[in-house]
Amino acid sequence: MTSSSPASRYTAIAIALHWAMALLLLFMIWLGWNMDDNEARYQLHKSVGITLLFLTVTRIAWRLLNPPPPLASDMKPYERTLSHLVHMAFYALMVIIPLAGWLLVSISPFQISTVLFGAIDWPHLPFTSGLRQGNEILHGIVENVHSKGAWVIIVLLGLHVAGAVKHEISGEDGVLKRMIPGLFGKASPPSLPARGALVAFGSSVILFALIAAIPLIGPGSSASRGASGSASSAEAAGNWTIDYAASKISFSGVYDGKPFGGTFGKWAADVAFYPEDLASSAVAVTIDTASVTTGTKLYDSTLREAEWFNTGAFPQAEIALSGFEATGEETYTATATMMLKGRETSVPLSFALKINGDRAILDGSATFSRKALDLGQMSDAGASWVSDEIVVEVQGEATRLD
Ligand code: HEM
Ligand code: HEM
Repeated sequence: MTSSSPASRYTAIAIALHWAMALLLLFMIWLGWNMDDNEARYQLHKSVGITLLFLTVTRIAWRLLNPPPPLASDMKPYERTLSHLVHMAFYALMVIIPLAGWLLVSISPFQISTVLFGAIDWPHLPFTSGLRQGNEILHGIVENVHSKGAWVIIVLLGLHVAGAVKHEISGEDGVLKRMIPGLFGKASPPSLPARGALVAFGSSVILFALIAAIPLIGPGSSASRGASGSASSAEAAGNWTIDYAASKISFSGVYDGKPFGGTFGKWAADVAFYPEDLASSAVAVTIDTASVTTGTKLYDSTLREAEWFNTGAFPQAEIALSGFEATGEETYTATATMMLKGRETSVPLSFALKINGDRAILDGSATFSRKALDLGQMSDAGASWVSDEIVVEVQGEATRLD
């Protein structure tokens, strides 16, 4: 066995990236095969996949700045070529597979958002929105590249490990010690001096931070989302002023067998209500659709997508109340007409209204159909996940002006 040259091990960073990414890649393949209908696993798959893409960019930059240590002199030329080809193929797949995954979710007709690790809104790939509909062939190709790519990784891994094992057991100068962390005492050769950590990591962090910032700019962006729950202060023209801090518009339904709901943080109501003259009463409510909050970032982002509220194109929903009738001493019904995404639907609203001097307290609810408002009709028209019936509840306090 020939002795190793003094600097024949990969840099510590190359070694750390190699083993961390090898484990994550294998985990990702397992996850990809075991995530059917499991939303949390899909999100984890996308989060780890984008992280791997980031690590790949860093790793390639690192390799360009820190060339691998020279190969042992007893390696045959074909072995050198084969191992080089396998390594290059690995790098290519580490770029192609996550990019194909990202493209797949970007052109999917089911516009499900990607929220990395439940915290960072991740955009779809730019310029892909036109490819969502009627592109079955493209969808099929991208899906195949993504899923078959995993099999190519497995085959290459077989060659890769066989190569490493062969060099260990054949009495040649092995390669494994070049890639084993330097935790095993003096036996392991020293690492090459490392350079360019700031360039490799810094440029990848900046690139990915810029991509992550895309959702923060432009119309319907989170920057303009009233997620803070601040209600609009637009002054109503009717005879009541809403106390927005004490009022709330919320909705609820059933998602995957469990109750699901949220609120709209930003809305304004114009209330003309005369208990003694119901025929002259009218209420107009404008809701800022992007202000929807459910307590889960993934649902908030998904609800803003094109197939749900489509907040970029339709920033507002309107509800008009008319046809008031008293049904009891302090209870009423009205017709609630909801206008959203160019659709209109009318449903009954029943509410209790307690008027005490100039102060009124309202509690009402109306049930809308998702289908009638074209909400989520791509991914779940049959309401097998999200109930078609969505109950909108209003709790409000108002002060009479005159
Ligand atoms: C290196 C990273 C990745 C690996 C190794 C990987 C691997 C896989 C595998 C093995 C499957 C199962 C395919 C099948 O046989 O049906 C899968 C499915 C999927 N992956 Fe990835 N993936 C990666 C990154 C990503 C990324 C970054 C995204 C999206 C941002 C993504 C989105 C998806 C989706 C949506 C599916 C389901 C596709 C379908 O059901 O047709 N993946 N992935
Ligand atoms: C999916 C899993 C894996 C991937 C994607 C992968 C990828 C790579 C790549 C791209 C290189 C070349 C580094 C460079 O020169 O830039 C490399 C080197 C190496 N890998 Fe892996 N690897 C994986 C798993 C493994 C495993 C399980 C072993 C253990 C036997 C291993 C042992 C090595 C060794 C010893 C080297 C250094 C080869 C040399 O000195 O030329 N790898 N690997």
